[in-house]
Amino acid sequence: MTRIFITRIIPDVGLVLVKEHFPLFDIWTPDLPPSRSELIEHAHGVDGLLCLLTEKIDGELMDVIGPQLKVISSMSVGMDHIDVAAATARGIPVGNTPGVLTDATADQAFALMLSAARRIPEAERFLRAGKWVTWQPSLLLGADFAGSTLGIVGFGRIGQAVAKRAQGFDMRVIYYDPTAEPAFGAQPADLDILLRESDFVSIHVPLTERTRHLVNVEFLAKMKPNAVLVNTSRGGVLDQNALYHTLKSNQIFSAALDVTDPEPLPMDSPLLELENCIIVPHLGSASKKTRDMMSLLAAQNLVAGLKGERLPNCVNPQVYK
Ligand code: DGY
Repeated sequence: MTRIFITRIIPDVGLVLVKEHFPLFDIWTPDLPPSRSELIEHAHGVDGLLCLLTEKIDGELMDVIGPQLKVISSMSVGMDHIDVAAATARGIPVGNTPGVLTDATADQAFALMLSAARRIPEAERFLRAGKWVTWQPSLLLGADFAGSTLGIVGFGRIGQAVAKRAQGFDMRVIYYDPTAEPAFGAQPADLDILLRESDFVSIHVPLTERTRHLVNVEFLAKMKPNAVLVNTSRGGVLDQNALYHTLKSNQIFSAALDVTDPEPLPMDSPLLELENCIIVPHLGSASKKTRDMMSLLAAQNLVAGLKGERLPNCVNPQVYK
């Protein structure tokens, strides 16, 4: 009998598809992810694993699961929680959910950019604290979008969708990504030039060994004093300690983070003390339609892998050679 472990309750549309093909499967129902030992216990001996970005799937786990493992499917586009090279070495196809969360994540980057520029959370705190006594010419002034420069670091699907949105805001857009062609009016630039010229910097690179702490003291020091930094990629791309000191000393205007390292962000993080830092709990893809599509794609990858078919979205197609 085919054995499957699904590490969390995912939107119905995906579960229905899995059930159509494989009526019996093990699913983790608590809200919190399974611990390592719970993951090992439930995944041991399965043919297919459907996981989220909260589970660390490394070679050791793959070996514990066993040689019958036919597919690892993640309900995410990001793959930094999975050792894809280890899966490839073991001939296991790994699936992800690209494309369907591009718009939602670009929307979130823009929402954060606007919120940071116009100080929306700070203004709301101000109002709720009863501090709104009158209209004042210089109350809570923010930054303009029109005529400003947006620098996009990482010009893949999501970076380009952000550039597309920026066109409607009359922004000049430049990007840093040596592998990407110009699109949506955005022009390529060296990273140093991008940081020197951008009023807004939005990060859209995957987390890899090369991009870990890409946003560090040196990176931040090159930004303009009025600049807004937005990160909707992965928390590990940014050195939070460096960001804290940069924001605390007002070296840049503000930052807005959808992702942190670790997640969840500990409540004693010094970043939470700062008025000029917005932090939300990894919600880039958090729209109903997007999460449904992610669930469906993850289920399609799982089912295809279990049937010995090519995954519709496979991140290591080398396994088919
Ligand atoms: C992903 O799929 O990698 C996203 O971070 C989820 O929002």
